[in-house]
Amino acid sequence: MLSQAAKVPHTASSNPFDLANEQAYQVWRDQKMITAPRSTDELVVDIENLNELKPSELDAIRNRCSKANMAIYKSRHPEADYISQRQVVQNIGRSFGLKNLDSNIRADDGGISALHVTATENHHEYIPYSNRSINWHTYGYYNEPENKIRAMILHCVSPAASGGENALVDHEMLYLLMRDENPAYIDALMQEDVMTIPANIENDVELRAAQTGPVFSIDPQTGALHMRYTARTRSIEWKSNELVHEAVEFIKTFLNSASPYIFHHRLSAGEGIICNNVLHNRNAFEDDPGKNQERMIFRGRFYERIT
Ligand SMILES: [Fe+2]
Repeated sequence: MLSQAAKVPHTASSNPFDLANEQAYQVWRDQKMITAPRSTDELVVDIENLNELKPSELDAIRNRCSKANMAIYKSRHPEADYISQRQVVQNIGRSFGLKNLDSNIRADDGGISALHVTATENHHEYIPYSNRSINWHTYGYYNEPENKIRAMILHCVSPAASGGENALVDHEMLYLLMRDENPAYIDALMQEDVMTIPANIENDVELRAAQTGPVFSIDPQTGALHMRYTARTRSIEWKSNELVHEAVEFIKTFLNSASPYIFHHRLSAGEGIICNNVLHNRNAFEDDPGKNQERMIFRGRFYERIT
């Protein structure tokens, strides 16, 4: 069953994420505070067979995504469940209407990236393929507006010997807390020129053009809230004004707090995160190849939202 929060109509005139709609916001806000999970356990859904999810399992995942934009699935049989683990990302994605994968230069097969420690020429400076920690971000903050990432799946084949925990935040909850604190912060972060990621230039070749855009935006087709964010401090240009500065500080302070709306989870084999591109980070980790404890995660980033 869908939560009340998901039933709020998202037409232009009553979209709760539009600052002009105070009444719609208050209705949505009240429902969100009632239904929002406050512990990681509330996000977890047990799955009998990862190759073929049962209707009740699909519903359970949808229910959590409608409340928190994310769910954690957990195979009951992590060793015996599936033939191709890469295929799990595609199968589960398809069950939720996620079909179009965002490809990047390092996604090795069909847009699904295998995240593990590599030491190749291409990967050696790229943090996702190292064992280092990754700061808070949503996906696609450097993408062109027409290639917005709206959902992602992280599927764990094997965890590290130690570390590698993720933290997750529903970007709608961050929006809510920020709007309650000061709606002017939301206004500042919805400006089209608030955040610029400079061009990616390697050896005088422009691999990606500079991208300027808002942090929070409303998807014109679905009315959903989208967030574009990275906590990195180098290679990012924030619009220079006091409100933007305060709003960015608000995000930082929240993400470093002990809020019950920050979920922590270390993926085990056969577990995964499916979400509407929520804010997340990753802790550093240590592999132990001698004991076959090497972290391996398959990742898919999709242009659709979970349906
Ligand atoms: Fe990530």
